[in-house]
Amino acid sequence: MPVQRTLFGQPLALRLPPRRFQLLVVFVILFIATIYAFGAPSADRIPTYEQVKDAVKDPHLPDLPDLSDIKDHIPKLPTELPQLPKLPNIGDLPVPDIFSPPAHKPPEQANSTASSSYGAIKWLTDFKWHTFFSKEVALDESRVVLPPLANRPPIYTYYEPKSKQDKKVTEAENRLILAWRRAWWAQGFKPIVLNHKDAMGPQYEMVQRMKLEPSMELELFRWLAWAKQGGGILANWLTLPMAQFDNPMISFLRRNEFPKLSRVESLQNGIFFGDSAAVDEAIQQAINNKLLQDVPANKDKIAKLAVQDGGMVVNLLSADVAVDKKANGLAYYNQDVVNNKYKTVRDKLSNTTQVEGLELLADLINSHLHLTFQETHPDGIAIVKPLPEHTTALTYTAIEIGRNLTQCPSSPMPQSCPPNRQKCKPCDPNKPFPFKLVPGFKNATKQYSIGSVPHPYTLASLHYTREDIDAKFLTDEAERDLWLTALTKELLGPGHSALYRVLFFKEEVASLRKASHSLWLTAERTTQADLEWIFGFNLPQSASPNKEPSSPSKDSELIIFPRPAEPKAIEGVGEQEERWIRKEEERLKKAREVLSQSHKAKKDDPVRGKVKEVEDWSLADTEAWRFARAFSARRRNERKDWEDQEEKFSGSERKAGVKAGGGRWSDRFR
Ligand SMILES: *[C@@H]1O[C@H](CO)[C@@H](O)[C@H](O)[C@H]1NC(C)=O
Ligand SMILES: *[C@@H]1O[C@H](CO)[C@@H](O)[C@H](O)[C@H]1NC(C)=O
Ligand SMILES: *[C@@H]1O[C@H](CO)[C@@H](O)[C@H](O)[C@H]1NC(C)=O
Ligand SMILES: *[C@@H]1O[C@H](CO)[C@@H](O)[C@H](O)[C@H]1NC(C)=O
Repeated sequence: MPVQRTLFGQPLALRLPPRRFQLLVVFVILFIATIYAFGAPSADRIPTYEQVKDAVKDPHLPDLPDLSDIKDHIPKLPTELPQLPKLPNIGDLPVPDIFSPPAHKPPEQANSTASSSYGAIKWLTDFKWHTFFSKEVALDESRVVLPPLANRPPIYTYYEPKSKQDKKVTEAENRLILAWRRAWWAQGFKPIVLNHKDAMGPQYEMVQRMKLEPSMELELFRWLAWAKQGGGILANWLTLPMAQFDNPMISFLRRNEFPKLSRVESLQNGIFFGDSAAVDEAIQQAINNKLLQDVPANKDKIAKLAVQDGGMVVNLLSADVAVDKKANGLAYYNQDVVNNKYKTVRDKLSNTTQVEGLELLADLINSHLHLTFQETHPDGIAIVKPLPEHTTALTYTAIEIGRNLTQCPSSPMPQSCPPNRQKCKPCDPNKPFPFKLVPGFKNATKQYSIGSVPHPYTLASLHYTREDIDAKFLTDEAERDLWLTALTKELLGPGHSALYRVLFFKEEVASLRKASHSLWLTAERTTQADLEWIFGFNLPQSASPNKEPSSPSKDSELIIFPRPAEPKAIEGVGEQEERWIRKEEERLKKAREVLSQSHKAKKDDPVRGKVKEVEDWSLADTEAWRFARAFSARRRNERKDWEDQEEKFSGSERKAGVKAGGGRWSDRFR
């Protein structure tokens, strides 16, 4: 008789344990295998008590401003204690997921990389950009999720150099067109310069046979070229957007929906907008007008129409086009305006000094754009300097840009106002434009903020005044996400998690409206590119050597102003001693080297591990740095692609004789 085994008096059968125990055993084995394969989670990769507390304390995200349009795409935020795999610091530890297959990475998008000294910058454009960590959407450690590019509506202009025109004049005109392209680009448009080839077709030949005066023929060709593009906005290349980004007229144009063919009151033929059908219809009517059947006989009548409001084409129509009366955001520097308002320029524009005149006109327009920028930010420029005790070396570039932005614009007529705002407040060097250092970011649209985003390694090295940052130092002494916390402490208050702060920061960097009030540089980059495309005008490149306005040379009509002083140290922080600043510069240099080495190094090189540890320690700061960097790299790529496409056309940098790739402000990526 077999022995009956018992346990606590119960007979014990030798059979397999129940199913749930089987499952448990599988789990335990898997867990041990995972630990064996990947190592035990180290202390700094496990969320700390503080983080979990933070996440619990601040579980919901207060309504972020300006999100209405993308609300549907915002991920649902945790309403209870977040599940561990979602927490940042565990991200590196593969979570054994035995129930579902892994997701595929989204395919790489076209033009989604840029090179830099600190490794390739890669991004993925996705509506779900509003996520804490890009990795969750991109499923790729190295890819940053950026919002979709704002659609740039095209704005057309028409340019054809006069026949037998001096090459120098053409080049000067090209520089003016470049200024036009930059200003519209900065306002979110895609500026396109058309020429007679764009106008060609049966109607073109018909117009040629009419033997109109050159200026009138040009006006018709301009419309023909526009019609062939399918309508939209047609502007003269001396019509510029001269207002803040959200000016109603400019916002209206940006929407690119024009049911009716319209012009703008008092802007003559400076700008038209209308859809394709309306433009085609207008051209038909104009060409079929009886006056054009016999041009020589009706010469005087046609000439009269051409000088009436709106120009020749609209006056050949049976009914006037719609007239927009409230538009105040556009400035048109046509001959009448220059003759009446800008005498210095007019005097030079006479035949023998035409090149000089055109150059002065470009300076004048540039100064008005710059002045408009200053006037739309009456609270001035703020250089954001979180943790100001040891971060002076991080602010050099931002301060340099800020100084030039606050300088009075170089201009042949510094007291003049743009044509659309005769009551402007000209810049006065005796009443300097506000320019300050601030320890935290402010939510203000009347102020323009420039910040320099450091890699957490750079910041840790400067803040803790250490050449070398290692894991032990991090766990023993360093705080996490120092930079973002300091940046947003005052504005958002202390009680928020780093996750919330990173979302807030992304919004500030990337949302269309807000991006026009701040600029975020990468602290490790030593060059900045494209500033004139971001602002829409050139920053002054020379300054008066003394306190008085002066001219760059004896016979120059241009007036330049003194360079504003550096901003004062933040109150309560005090001036840093020179020798400590020198130390900081050394540390910054060293940090740059470490970051650059780390990207070139092999996978198992210790320098890589070192940087990775710091990144893992401050995940939110790392994300902020990568986001700001990718955002600006993509902006740069978008711009450069566009320039490459337009290179052969008038107004391109090449045609205007603007050198690319030289000097400190070159457009090389570093
Ligand atoms: C990518 O860049 C090329 C030129 O560099 C351009 O022709 C192409 O249109 C771009 N593609 C996208 C999707 O932007
Ligand atoms: C310049 O213009 C004046 C009249 O405005 C004219 O008499 C003169 O011939 C012109 N000179 C040249 C070189 O075209
Ligand atoms: C920023 O300012 C806007 C408008 O002034 C306001 O609606 C928004 O709530 C502010 N955001 C924060 C975070 O203070
Ligand atoms: C600022 O102006 C100085 C001269 O005053 C010039 O050397 C420098 O290149 C300018 N910087 C920028 C960013 O335009």
